[in-house]
Amino acid sequence: MIFHPVCIAGTGSYVPERVLTNAELATRVDTSEEWILTRTGIRERRIAAADETTSHMATHAARRALEQAGLTAAELELIIVATITPDTPTPATACYIQQNLGATRAVAFDISAACSGFLYAMKIAKRLIASGAFKNAIIIGAEKLSSVTNWDDRSTCVLFGDGAGAAVLRIAEPGEGSIIATEMGTDGTLTHLLQIPGGGTACPITAANVNEQLGTLRMLGKEVFKHAVNRMKEAAEKVIARAGLKAEDIACVIPHQANLRIIDAIADRLAVPNDRVFINLDKYGNTSAAAIAIALDEANRNGAFKRGDNIVLVVFGAGLTWAAAAIRW
Ligand code: COA
Repeated sequence: MIFHPVCIAGTGSYVPERVLTNAELATRVDTSEEWILTRTGIRERRIAAADETTSHMATHAARRALEQAGLTAAELELIIVATITPDTPTPATACYIQQNLGATRAVAFDISAACSGFLYAMKIAKRLIASGAFKNAIIIGAEKLSSVTNWDDRSTCVLFGDGAGAAVLRIAEPGEGSIIATEMGTDGTLTHLLQIPGGGTACPITAANVNEQLGTLRMLGKEVFKHAVNRMKEAAEKVIARAGLKAEDIACVIPHQANLRIIDAIADRLAVPNDRVFINLDKYGNTSAAAIAIALDEANRNGAFKRGDNIVLVVFGAGLTWAAAAIRW
């Protein structure tokens, strides 16, 4: 069997207009601008309008990625959406996006791997294209975390935001870059560290428990922090080694945008200087599956790397899940 090299032909992102600053949050819960900034690196986040769904944001991001890739929606063969905040439990958010785009030929489905979802989607799409099953795909990370945030819980509500990012993957032409190595992992013994406990079959939301905020994110932050650093370091090291790279060969590391202290710890352990680590969490907070997708698009459009450069993406999230990718751009 021949495996085709697979490249990223275009990226796109979208964030809602409404900015929620640390100062405004400090008027709602017992926190301060200073605490949020020094403990997380976040200054502000975007909040989607009431009628702005995950698929709306994703559709904007997807159109931008398709445009950059020079691909029409009609040519698109596969849509994979990573989200923990789907428009509806069923059908998949990817189906709404297919409809919005008019991508009538595309097979469309969602995956659920929390903040790691975009790189899980990347590996799945890469394999499906490499094997010849599909010629191209769009992968999308999109979240409306504001809809699953407990706005009375200061330990979580300061962290999250809304947005969407997308990337178009296709068979690479000779001379183009490609996704060189990917890595994924899961530790299901740690599901309790970060979860939305209610709303599924384990704990349906009922009239009796509707006020208990069971449909919002709960997290043991300190524990998550420790695992995040270790797992992201290991995953990044694996793809760097598999791609035959050294720290000095990497033009840009794009990590999951959850906490600046986590990012600094990873950069330190990978021996990559801070000026080669892309950060935008100050503007958007943690947007789960969307975070690395938005960061990839902003880094791409801002010239953080150029054609032929090696970049490393690394993520971590609920599950626990983690993933990394080494890409020659
Ligand atoms: N404002 C002010 N104080 C706050 C606060 C807030 N928004 N949130 C928590 N605190 C308080 C706590 O109540 C605690 O007070 P106490 O010592 O009196 O009990 C104190 O600050 C320290 O809390 P702690 O949880 O130990 O802080 P921390 O340094 O671990 O930072 C996080 C908290 C959440 C920022 C940090 O643990 C983190 O980022 N974890 C990883 C989260 C993550 O990445 N999640 C997503 C994974 S995809």
